[in-house]
Amino acid sequence: MKISIIGGGAWGTTLGQTLVDNGHEVLIFDLNPLAVDKINGHHHPFFDTVLPDAVQATTDLRAVVDFSNYFLLSVPTKAVRSACKSINPLLKKPSVFINVSKGIEPDTLKRVSEIVESEITPDHYKGFVVLTGPSHAEEMILRHLTLLVSASNDLELAKEVQMIFSNDQYLRVYTSTDLIGCEVGGAVKNAIAVISGVCTGLGLGENARAAVITRGIVEIVKVVEIMGGKKETAFGLTGIGDLIVTASSENSRNFTAGKKIGLGMPVDEVYKSEKQTIEGIRTIEAMHKLSIEHGVELPMINVAYAILYGGLSIKDGLNKLLSRDLKSEDF
Ligand SMILES: NC(=O)c1ccc[n+]([C@@H]2O[C@H](COP(=O)([O-])OP(=O)(O)OC[C@H]3O[C@@H](n4cnc5c(N)ncnc54)[C@H](O)[C@@H]3O)[C@@H](O)[C@H]2O)c1
Repeated sequence: MKISIIGGGAWGTTLGQTLVDNGHEVLIFDLNPLAVDKINGHHHPFFDTVLPDAVQATTDLRAVVDFSNYFLLSVPTKAVRSACKSINPLLKKPSVFINVSKGIEPDTLKRVSEIVESEITPDHYKGFVVLTGPSHAEEMILRHLTLLVSASNDLELAKEVQMIFSNDQYLRVYTSTDLIGCEVGGAVKNAIAVISGVCTGLGLGENARAAVITRGIVEIVKVVEIMGGKKETAFGLTGIGDLIVTASSENSRNFTAGKKIGLGMPVDEVYKSEKQTIEGIRTIEAMHKLSIEHGVELPMINVAYAILYGGLSIKDGLNKLLSRDLKSEDF
């Protein structure tokens, strides 16, 4: 089948290769002509790998919209709304939106599925799936074993996307009907990965990292429940699985951004030093807002927010966390 890919960055282009591996046709749209040229020259825009000839890209949005009525959205979360606004008037048929970006909109606290549904008019909208889980593009471009989850309110659609992406070489996709739990887990783990990176930049060891990952899961579960998902989903690939891969890896931009902050780099410098998407810092902003609006305690995320946006020193932030009332870990 034919799939239109919106966003030819690290992940979108890698998934384009997988779709071609699986016998599908793809056409990638990206605003950046340099990325498009690289892809059409059969090079991944960010990695030193050769792409199959059939992975093709263009800066012509209309051509990509006319190409199919299945859209893989692989732009940063902050670009999803504008991408949908551009696509919607060009659509001629009801379309399926498969999102892989991992974030929550800070101003509205909307998940990507909600953003898409609000920007695509009902006669152009056939359904939404999030494809998420522990995945570094750096590894999947080399066809290293990866497990993902295809989650949708519509189980048949989740199964269809499972079939489209799975293969017996390196990618196995599970389904889920907990769309909210999967979207939230994928977004909030990036915030925890930034915090884990800060600890590493500070020179703290593996004890601290294990603590951040484990208590991070507690914060993810709280957010999943507030936003209406199932807490059990946080214990699967899209929660714990994605947190493990992100919160302990130099391949993760969120972890690396946190590490730079821990080493003393100001946040705006961190943004300038990284050409690609760092979702976790925006997610910390969104989660802090959610914590206030819902009166729920998210200790690590709120201290991270105070450090990033409120001028709190990292030393005082750690002290604030450690001096909280002592309590039990009974579940
Ligand atoms: N890189 C990974 O390993 C990975 C894995 C899973 C999920 N993700 C998620 O996928 C999303 C994208 O990540 P990435 O690593 O590919 O980021 P990236 O920065 O490498 O690529 C994003 C691409 O989107 C393009 N873009 C931005 N706005 C656009 C628009 N309006 N229309 C078309 N193209 C536009 C950019 O030019 C860029 O090429 C993020 O939310 C990320 O969390 C990434």
